[in-house]
Amino acid sequence: MDLFEAIEKRASVRDLKPVDVPQADLDRILDAGRRAPSGRNRQPLDFIVIRDPDTIKKLAKAQACLADVSLIIAVAADPGKSEFWLEDIAAATENMLLAITALGYASVWIEGTLLRDEDDHKKALGVPENMRLMVALPVGKAAEPKSQADKRPLKEIVHWDRYGNLRS
Ligand SMILES: Cc1cc2nc3c(=O)[nH]c(=O)nc-3n(C[C@H](O)[C@H](O)[C@H](O)COP(=O)(O)O)c2cc1C
Repeated sequence: MDLFEAIEKRASVRDLKPVDVPQADLDRILDAGRRAPSGRNRQPLDFIVIRDPDTIKKLAKAQACLADVSLIIAVAADPGKSEFWLEDIAAATENMLLAITALGYASVWIEGTLLRDEDDHKKALGVPENMRLMVALPVGKAAEPKSQADKRPLKEIVHWDRYGNLRS
């Protein structure tokens, strides 16, 4: 799938079905995350690939749809390695979401619900105390076709030369 098609097709899918993800596809998704821009190129991120059903069940306490897949990619960062760790997490996460979409899978950026009990989830995954566990990406198939949420139109967002100069 072309990049622009993946950008348009990417949607937060919470109604997921499990699917076998061949290692070659998983490698491409992880490589997309690895190649994301990184502030001062400090690369403070680690990815945790979770296939163990018991661990998936524990993580699903954050959000039920995590239990509906057989593969989750979690993103952790060491804030001690870079002041830009949060931005780096976002860049890697979006790259992986686009790769997941381009390969025909579905996912959703799970962060808000994961952070409610971050310490518990860190323990379940063995993430060291000094690190942050910010994102979980379930990788599955969409149970039903799902479109991206509505976005504000460019004519509302884009200012030409100076803030306030909108074009209709
Ligand atoms: C920083 C961040 C945190 C998010 N956390 C969650 C979450 O915990 N659970 C969830 O279901 N979706 C989460 N989302 C997905 C958003 O709800 C979703 O992107 C938004 O509703 C727009 O829908 P779209 O992704 O289909 O465009 C998160 C997205 C971002 C960028």
